[in-house]
Amino acid sequence: MLAAQLRNAPTERPRRLRRTGPLRALVRETRLHPEMFVCPVFVRPRRGVREPIPSMPDQYRLSVDQLAAEADELRRLGISSVLLFGLPEAKDASGSGAYDEDGIVQRAIRALRSSHPDLIVMTDVCLCEYTAHGHCGVLRDGQVDNDATLELLARTAVTQAANGADVVAPSAMMDGQVRTIRAALDEAGFTGTAVMGYSAKYASAFYGPFREAAGSVPQFGDRRGYQMDPPNAREAEREVALDLAEGADVVMVKPALAYLDVIHRVRPHVPVPLAAYNVSGEYSMVKAAAAAGWLDGRAVTLEILTALHRAGADLLITYHAKEAAAWLATR
Ligand code: PBG
Repeated sequence: MLAAQLRNAPTERPRRLRRTGPLRALVRETRLHPEMFVCPVFVRPRRGVREPIPSMPDQYRLSVDQLAAEADELRRLGISSVLLFGLPEAKDASGSGAYDEDGIVQRAIRALRSSHPDLIVMTDVCLCEYTAHGHCGVLRDGQVDNDATLELLARTAVTQAANGADVVAPSAMMDGQVRTIRAALDEAGFTGTAVMGYSAKYASAFYGPFREAAGSVPQFGDRRGYQMDPPNAREAEREVALDLAEGADVVMVKPALAYLDVIHRVRPHVPVPLAAYNVSGEYSMVKAAAAAGWLDGRAVTLEILTALHRAGADLLITYHAKEAAAWLATR
């Protein structure tokens, strides 16, 4: 070897462990597994309906009778959890469809409980899909009334638990929602039902496709009066701490990809499982670019999901769940 080459020889060679696939796998720090995926499912009225969602390729609104087949497919792919969202028959000012004993989500839970007793059924607890005005709570003087909404969120969670939900997930961003729901569940005897707080939920434009899917676009104004302001990160620590103090069993950061710093930042303060919600707009961006041939959808999706886990999330709520599980199985 030339003397000059020897002089330039690095003493540290990280490339040694990147040389082959098996070596890379041996030292890999982060691994995805379908059991960490939570698959969102939109449930709609009537029978025999599998309605495509235009802004979310490969996503559907399913009628209750379609859920068992969907759950079969999820189980076959190794996915053990769903997060249910409901599209009610009718909407009103107080979102009564959310806490109707026979509401769309309540019926969906019953169907899944009987067809798939071991499936983990999570439910979104919010009023926005059920209110005619599209806000996440009830209004007073044109504003969402925090404390009046708490009562309705608690009723929603209790009816979901009564029908067999394993995890109820309040997403309305009302102050005190976790505490109120925990107390109502316990009082009704559902001490075993877990609460997953949408703790650091930002007022994000990335929810656009979801609002089309769920028909929950606010009819006036926006959600910035209750969801978090995107420039704030310290505030996420506070929201997470409050939900933990109020008894949350799982806390969440949402959206995920543009908020990796928030996931990473709260992680050391979160002794419970931490969820990241890879939201509709994040999904649709990747699907659109992949459909146009601008990027490799499979590679990018797995890279994004890996990044969420690497940043500190244990549970990944993602519309990519099914395709990602299938890709992981064939890797
Ligand atoms: C309900 C709710 C929303 C999402 C989850 N729960 C919509 C919103 O807050 O406007 C968004 C999920 C997504 O975009 O995938 N409040």
